[in-house]
Amino acid sequence: MAYSDKVIDHYEHPRNVGAFEKGDESVGTGMVGAPACGDVMRLQIKVNDEGVIEDAKFKTYGCGSAIASSSLLTEWVKGKTLEEAQQIRNTDIAEELALPPVKIHCSVLAEDAIKSAIQDYESHQQGSTEAATGQA
Ligand code: FES
Ligand code: FES
Repeated sequence: MAYSDKVIDHYEHPRNVGAFEKGDESVGTGMVGAPACGDVMRLQIKVNDEGVIEDAKFKTYGCGSAIASSSLLTEWVKGKTLEEAQQIRNTDIAEELALPPVKIHCSVLAEDAIKSAIQDYESHQQGSTEAATGQA
């Protein structure tokens, strides 16, 4: 299968590979798997007090398209609010990377991963929001 130049670029030079420290309340972690192929993607976001994603990291055990999709996603979400990040569609990723039909599910994995990371982050905030309005 011929990968597009953008996929190869992200695959060979993946952006933001890694992980944040455990137990950090400003971090949301999304871990998703693709039933079709068994590939797994872990995406983490670090969110500041204004609800803006300051940083993102990923680890993907999967194909080149899945690695490229998650690498691209980490670039896209930085500087976005959680609401904006929520709007990212797998079709945007597939289009940017020119993914062929059989690789569309790789971009779906990335969309699932960011949604799951946001959800995880929000679950940390519930209950701690009152405390957070006090003096930092
Ligand atoms: Fe082989 Fe995704 S199916 S790496
Ligand atoms: Fe399954 Fe890419 S994530 S082939």
